[in-house]
This record gives sequence, structure tokens and C-alpha cells, in this order.
Amino acid sequence: MQTPKNVYLDNAATSFPKPLEVEQAMARLLREGSLSPGRSAHAFSLSASRVIFEAREAVAEFFGCRDSSRTVFTSNVTTALNVGIFGLLQPGDHVLTTGVEHNSVMRPLRFLEKKRGVAVEMLPTSAAGEIDPDDIPARLRKNTRLLIVNHASNVTGALADLAAIGSRKGQALFLVDAAQSAGVFPIDVEAVGIDFLAFTGHKALFGPTGTGGFVFAKGLALPPLMLGGTGSHSEAEEQPGLAPDCYESGTPNTLGIAGLAAGLAFIRKTGMETIRRHEEALVRLLLDGLARMPGVTVYGPPTGRQRGSAVSLRMAGKSVAELAFLLDRHHGIMSRAGLHCAPAAHRSIGTFPDGTLRLSPGFFNSEEDIKAALAALASISASS
Ligand SMILES: Cc1ncc(COP(=O)(O)O)c(C=O)c1O
Repeated sequence: MQTPKNVYLDNAATSFPKPLEVEQAMARLLREGSLSPGRSAHAFSLSASRVIFEAREAVAEFFGCRDSSRTVFTSNVTTALNVGIFGLLQPGDHVLTTGVEHNSVMRPLRFLEKKRGVAVEMLPTSAAGEIDPDDIPARLRKNTRLLIVNHASNVTGALADLAAIGSRKGQALFLVDAAQSAGVFPIDVEAVGIDFLAFTGHKALFGPTGTGGFVFAKGLALPPLMLGGTGSHSEAEEQPGLAPDCYESGTPNTLGIAGLAAGLAFIRKTGMETIRRHEEALVRLLLDGLARMPGVTVYGPPTGRQRGSAVSLRMAGKSVAELAFLLDRHHGIMSRAGLHCAPAAHRSIGTFPDGTLRLSPGFFNSEEDIKAALAALASISASS
């Protein structure tokens, strides 16, 4: 049997391939030694500081944050979300969130609920994974400290209307998980009134794994989660108060951050709209093909609604694990099966505990890739 070509449709886990510029930026730093910023006064350290500074400026501008000292690098969105959730919630607080949150949000929240008396309330979430911003005002309490929203679901692709949510948040702080949307959908934190935006670098921002961060609003009282050396105020045994240093203890991932900056430059050069339109066309092709396939159920927003590129499905008579196995082994189609670290989302859409098969096209996929996936699913369906 001829070995099929690999078709990567797991971009919601991490994007692949990365633009060549990302690889080149990282290789250059590794070769040149610009690795340890802010620690020494020699040329290598100074050039590493410049790399970080320029990347910070680029990320701040990308998300509409006017002051780059409120832009912080972490090792992924999970770390960023932990800083926001643990830093902003106190015992006795109430937090409103949605039924499509990732465990990066749900696990910290369930911990705080159990151990620190934080009240967690989920907004009604439709079987497509969508929330209605009009459901928010009636649920706000005097002690609602935080509203947490996943911008684009990694399970159904459902997209939250950040502007509509931001205008209904009352006195609550607004925290957004942009893991799946940053790089595809424009986000302007100041225009929308987002107090804390958490992003990951290795998905649609095209950076390497090990990158991410957050952008926070001016005046936000936010204690750091991790303390240690920052390369600044070395005389003090107490954590400096200065942002972004106070949130970035430990030698940063200079290589990864340079790769992330190159990913952002790639998005700027290509145009976010071009990226989005290409992904939308691929998702449309995929959804149209799936709609015609007998025995296949697709979960997610109705046709025509703007959405992210995660597409969840099930096929009658096949477990999702078997489906993913057959796609991979016999057809070279790389997908992801199961709960996608988001059991809450699967409860909302009625696919818990088995989960779904997820196909997630990215910018570097072609129509041929989607047709190959559809042909593979049709052949599996026909042989069952
Ligand atoms: C919506 C959402 N939040 C959080 C995460 C966690 O991302 P990371 O592993 O980069 O921290 C993911 C990753 O799949 C995600 O899709």
C-alpha cells in the first residue's frame, strides 16, 4: 500500500508548520548568543534585552495595549491564566464564566471554589457552545469580581462577541482566554475593555511551544504568581513591584520570544484578514463536505456564523478514538480525539464523556488537505 502524505489538521493543539522566518529568527539567536537578557552588560546580553523589548512592543501593539510594560511573557496561556485567576480572585468573590472553558481556566476555578470559597457560576451555553451576552447582566452580583470568557472554543469553534460582553460586564473585571483566536481575529483590549487578555504563542500566532503571555489593564492590582530573579533591583530580597519584571522571574525563553515576534511579523506581512479568509474557506469546505456525509454529526455554530476553525464531529458506529486512529494510520490525516482538555465544553454540547473527533485547519493547509480528510472520512464511513 502506498504511504499517504501526512495532512496536519491539529492546528488547534499547535500550529504546524511554522513560517520559515520563525525558524530563522530562533536559529540566529542561538548562533549569535543573544540569550540572557537584562542580566549582564556585555553585548550578548544587551542584544537579548533588545530582542525581548522589541517583541514586547510588537505584542502590545498587536493587542492594542498602549503601554508595553503591561505586556508580560509567560511559557504558555495556562501560566498566564493562572496569574490572572489566582491574582484577581479572593475568598468570597463570585466569578462568572462560560460552559466552553478549557481546563486551564476550569481547574484553577474549581480549586479556588473548593479551597478558598470562590463562587463559580457558568453562563448558559448553547449546544453549539455559544453564550448570549444578554444573559450576563442578571447574573452579576455585588461580589462578581471576574467574568472569564473563552474567545474561540477549541472544541466547537464558537466565537464569543467580546464587544457585546465587554459592554455588559458591569463592575466585574473582564478576563479573556484568546488561545484559539489571537492571530486570526483582531483583539483590541482597550477598545473592548478587556482587563486581562491571556494568549498562547504557539497556535495561530505561529510562535514555538513554550511561549505565551498576558496583557493587563492600567491600574489593575495584580500580584505576581511566581517570585524570583528578574535581572532588575538585584539588591532587594523582595520581589520588585515594577511591571513587567515582577511577573517574569527567571531567565526568559528568549529564543521562543524571538520566534513569537517573527510569527507576529509574518501575520503583519500576510495580513490577518488574508489568514482568516483562508481558514474560513477551508472550514466552509470541510463543513459542507461533512454535512453531506451520512452518519456524521457535526457540533458547533450554525452555518454562516463567524467561527474559529476547530470542527468537532462524530461518526455513527465508530468511537472517536478509532476514527482518529484510522484517519492517521490509513490516510495520514492528523486529528485529535477525545475531550480536548475541555470537559466542560463537551458537557455543554452533549458529547461528554466520549468527546469528539476534532479537525482544525490552519493557514498552511490547502483545499487538497481538506478534500483528503473528507475522502478519508467517507471511505471509513463506507467501510463500517
Ligand atoms: C481555549 C484554550 N485555552 C487554553 C489552552 C491551553 O494552551 P497552552 O497549552 O498553550 O497553555 C488551550 C490549548 O489547547 C485552549 O485551546
